Amino acid sequence: MVKSIERRSFLKGSALLAAAAALKPGAAMMKSEQAAHDRYHAMKIPRPEGLLDGEPVLQAPAPESMGVAFAVTALANGFVELAENPELKDAKRFMADGLPLAGIDDRVLQVRMTGLKPGTRYWYRAGAAKLEHPIGYWTKPSEIVWSAVHSFVTPGESAPSHFGMMSDTHAQFTQMARITKKYRELGVPSMVWNGDIPSSLTNVREDFVKHYLVPPENAGYAADTPILLNRGNHDFRGTAANRLGEVMMPRLPTERSMRDIALDRNFAFRMGEIALIGLDTGEDKPDFHPANGGFTRFTTYRVAQTEWLKDQFSRPEIVTAPYIVAFVHIPIVELYPGANPGTILEDYATWQKECADMWGPILTANKAQLVLAGHTHRYRYDAAKDGRSWAEIIGGGRGAKTFQTLIEGKVEGGELVVRVHNTDAGKIVGVHRFKPRG
Ligand SMILES: [Fe+2]
Ligand SMILES: [Fe+2]
Repeated sequence: MVKSIERRSFLKGSALLAAAAALKPGAAMMKSEQAAHDRYHAMKIPRPEGLLDGEPVLQAPAPESMGVAFAVTALANGFVELAENPELKDAKRFMADGLPLAGIDDRVLQVRMTGLKPGTRYWYRAGAAKLEHPIGYWTKPSEIVWSAVHSFVTPGESAPSHFGMMSDTHAQFTQMARITKKYRELGVPSMVWNGDIPSSLTNVREDFVKHYLVPPENAGYAADTPILLNRGNHDFRGTAANRLGEVMMPRLPTERSMRDIALDRNFAFRMGEIALIGLDTGEDKPDFHPANGGFTRFTTYRVAQTEWLKDQFSRPEIVTAPYIVAFVHIPIVELYPGANPGTILEDYATWQKECADMWGPILTANKAQLVLAGHTHRYRYDAAKDGRSWAEIIGGGRGAKTFQTLIEGKVEGGELVVRVHNTDAGKIVGVHRFKPRG
């Protein structure tokens, strides 16, 4: 019985195929339907010059995946072609995220490249096809307009032991351009953007587009250098703050457990010998502060991240890393006795005591060597001390008496060498060295 049904289906399918091949178009169609087909096929969409607005922005890197987002000027579908050679021979094509509907949009396209090999150099180009509606909902794409070919290295144990960190750029695009030029000169393979990206509120998506996808004076800043975004207090302000993911992609859910599903921006992976761990200190005022309007849950968020952090040290690639570097926006060392801990109504946090109390001991128990922070805008180094395995370095940022920094970490000669570049003055202002974990 089963056999005969299969055979009947096969015959039916074959018959349809044969009929389709033999009949002229339209022979089996209603007249109106044929007219629709004719109109669809007759419509020529000119090549949509100017459809791509800026260069692609690599983001949320992981050993087996890489995100890329880019801006467009009209309704379009997005693509990436990816290969292990600069000619893009045998390239694999990815479509804008979404299932069953791709994430078509008139301003932001996001594509996730998956199934990648860790520690591997890839070449790619991003592209978009403009979508027109020649008849009703019938959608016709233009030819694809492609970006230039760019390149990146996936993280992983065989990736270069090298990273960079910038913070507190606060939409000062000229200052930021000095940093982004410098890290490209240095060949930094992944950059942590450690918070306080805007200068004021983000109330509409276009604010994020300007900060991340088309920042003035910074064209191509992340086309070859993936960005690990770690938010600061300013990144939570404005009515669009909880829609950041529409521009900057969260991490893949497969990178965490169901318990941690809300923690979509924390990261922990290897760049060669270094484990990079991203932790979010949140706002600089307590949840009960009137500025927060009663809708923030930063303490809960910090507790959730504490459980996540503990678990990272049971992952073989993290626990065996010779170097552990954690990233926080607000410092977690008390900068001076009585410094504002972020738990009181007055002013704002100079350091984040809740995070220090919860995360500091875990990092020490696992012999982490370094925490990199921002927020105060003033470069500062606090050495490790008794009871605390890790040093803390705060990067510089915008201000009349401060300077912007690029903090670069690289393993050289059996040590992690951290160079602090004053990118405003174009010189190195600090070099700090760390031994592998014992
Ligand atoms: Fe800041
Ligand atoms: Fe800040």
